Amino acid sequence: MKPLLDPIRLNNLELKNGFIVAPMTTYSSLDNGCISPDELPYLARRAQGGFGAIMTAACYVHSSGKAFTGQWGCDHDNKLDSLRSVAQAIQSNGAKAILQIHHGGRQCPPKLAGGECISASAIAAENPNAVIPREMIDTEIERTIEDYAQAALRAKVAGYDAVEIHGANTYLIQQFVSPHSNRREDKWNPNDLLFPKRLVEAVLRAVGPDFPVGYRFSPEEPETPGIRLDRTKRLIDELCKFKLSFLHISLRNYDQKSIHADSEEPILKQISVHINGRLPLIGVGSIRSAEDVSKALQLGPTALAIARGAICDVDWVKHYAAGTPIRATLSKADFPQAYVLPAGLAKRVEDVPGWFDFAE
Ligand SMILES: Cc1cc2nc3c(=O)[nH]c(=O)nc-3n(C[C@H](O)[C@H](O)[C@H](O)COP(=O)(O)O)c2cc1C
Repeated sequence: MKPLLDPIRLNNLELKNGFIVAPMTTYSSLDNGCISPDELPYLARRAQGGFGAIMTAACYVHSSGKAFTGQWGCDHDNKLDSLRSVAQAIQSNGAKAILQIHHGGRQCPPKLAGGECISASAIAAENPNAVIPREMIDTEIERTIEDYAQAALRAKVAGYDAVEIHGANTYLIQQFVSPHSNRREDKWNPNDLLFPKRLVEAVLRAVGPDFPVGYRFSPEEPETPGIRLDRTKRLIDELCKFKLSFLHISLRNYDQKSIHADSEEPILKQISVHINGRLPLIGVGSIRSAEDVSKALQLGPTALAIARGAICDVDWVKHYAAGTPIRATLSKADFPQAYVLPAGLAKRVEDVPGWFDFAE
């Protein structure tokens, strides 16, 4: 039997296999933050393709955290029907449904986020045209933690199998962990890691002891000051004290090395070794073939997430299991029809340079 095709347990989350569709923003939801009809077939088709679980697009926990046009939300009970329809589209096609809960912080364009953007400190990201965010006050931080907790509870009520806390990819939680975006000297300073600790605690309390919760993190940042692996290892040590179901690293390539430390050991290996079995770890990053699966697993993760691969090949897991070729590129000739994509996502896939490969 090829690796990861058997049922697998991520603590209290059981999957029929160890392949998970990584979270992917769809840029396609309605302006009111509800799911649009063409996102459901997109998710259902990936579930039919054999994945053990599907993580949803990042879903904002408060309207101040909306980071993309066409992002969907879990910020209010009036989103319950929308949330439920996604869980059902995934589950009725045989996969577990995992809601990714998110707040964009300083990465939110103010026009999407109610006129301003907020973060740990009033420090702009190092991107052209980045806006200087407003520093959050103490009560606002407490309320935001509660927004994540209520969003997680909504996921449970709407029938999801798990939630993933989006602590990666430069968004609000990472902004509190990073010494670049967090210059605070109060209890929310970046070194004490109080924000992620309090947030995980609040989410777990809201959903109760049996509902699976995972946490996604980015292991390092290019900025100076910024997150380095030693800080990430300290974060992991704190996260391992909680009854989480999994940790999920965010990497572009599963075998990438640190951009700062001169170690030849891939980050995924270093992090797996550091976790040392305390929690299951999901690996990710340019997994395009059965050979990549074997090589990635040698670096120690428990399960693997696949993002762009699941766009290019709707039957990714079926092809892997059968030993038939897995498509790693898109074909101009049958794009977008053959890929069952919502319109907003199809447009981004075509327009963003370097993201996807089109074969003729
Ligand atoms: C279209 C697209 C949207 C994405 N949206 C999210 C998201 O909402 N949340 C998230 O954590 N990562 C997001 N990512 C990152 C992926 O989850 C994944 O980490 C990354 O693409 C590397 O995996 P891959 O090489 O299999 O694509 C997105 C990636 C793509 C291609």
